[in-house]
Amino acid sequence: MANIGYVGLGTMGGQMVNRFLEKGHSVTGYNRTRSKAQWLIDKGLKFADSPRAVAASTEFVTIERTKSVEAATARGESANFSPLSMSHWALERVRL
Ligand SMILES: NC(=O)c1ccc[n+]([C@@H]2O[C@H](COP(=O)([O-])OP(=O)(O)OC[C@H]3O[C@@H](n4cnc5c(N)ncnc54)[C@H](OP(=O)(O)O)[C@@H]3O)[C@@H](O)[C@H]2O)c1
Repeated sequence: MANIGYVGLGTMGGQMVNRFLEKGHSVTGYNRTRSKAQWLIDKGLKFADSPRAVAASTEFVTIERTKSVEAATARGESANFSPLSMSHWALERVRL
């Protein structure tokens, strides 16, 4: 089983993580609004305090890239995402 990291647990990310958990993978995730991830925590998601903490504890990280996050990061305004460079905004090496 894979050790997956996921940043951004909105509609898309939440459903992806839900599927990973249902398949028995270990998932560590982060979302700006923690309460929106509670249903996934109840299903076994390990919630991390920051995107950096997700990256540090997993084999690869998927980041949901919304227009608002992209724009905020481009302006250097998104403190939540600043630990990760734009180059990390990609799906890296997924083997499921
Ligand atoms: N939904 C679909 O069916 C679908 C299908 C195909 C592709 N997509 C693509 O998937 C991506 C995500 O879509 P979605 O439907 O999942 O969107 P969404 O439900 O609105 O989720 C957006 C995510 O981005 C986070 N976020 C937004 N602005 C942020 C900011 N300034 N700083 C930190 N976090 C921020 C939100 O965190 P909070 O929870 O804290 O707000 C949430 O985790 C988009 O690129 C979309 O085009 C979606």
